[in-house]
Amino acid sequence: MATASSSLQTLRQDAAHCRACPLWKDATQTVFGEGPPHAPAMLVGEQPGDKEDLAGKPFVGPAGQMLDRALEEAGIDRKKVYVTNAVKHFKFVPRGKIRLHQKPTTPEIRACRPWYERELAAIKPALVVAMGATAAQSVFGKITPINKNRGRLIDLDDGIKALVTVHPSYLLRLPDEAAKAREYQRFLDDLRIAAALLRKSAHAA
Ligand code: URA
Repeated sequence: MATASSSLQTLRQDAAHCRACPLWKDATQTVFGEGPPHAPAMLVGEQPGDKEDLAGKPFVGPAGQMLDRALEEAGIDRKKVYVTNAVKHFKFVPRGKIRLHQKPTTPEIRACRPWYERELAAIKPALVVAMGATAAQSVFGKITPINKNRGRLIDLDDGIKALVTVHPSYLLRLPDEAAKAREYQRFLDDLRIAAALLRKSAHAA
């Protein structure tokens, strides 16, 4: 039987050649998920950004720094969680020297969903954290409003819980400092729910 580690490795190799939607054509590479094969939590973002596309790793750019800071403050060790994206190629339009991020479409999210499903099946986490609308759409298989669903645990199949929250780049985009501070605290509140569940599942293990 394949171990979680060997099946993740196979998935990563297979995903490197994915042609299920046209996004591979302009992207540098597939950015697959990263983290321990038996991680108790899987964090799902939207898609790799410019930095992630070049590095081949999820959440290493500005949104990743914001995520790292919040995880640390919430008491979650990033090295112990699996971090991935709903869409695994960078979607952008060139603007001079800059590559401007473009939101993935529903067909692109759907085309990439089998990778998320296979990551989930290999890792079998206790918790999936969907960060932002694209992640929530992939995790629940349908459009799932963030504000209506954030901040509480929602049952998925097989005893897995889901938590919906905002995407860290939403916090970076907020124009005024007061809103930024308030929304960052709400993001932390959500991550603390995740931290509490992870402590509980570590005790139960
Ligand atoms: N935004 C995402 O959704 N994922 C990344 O990996 C980086 C930025």
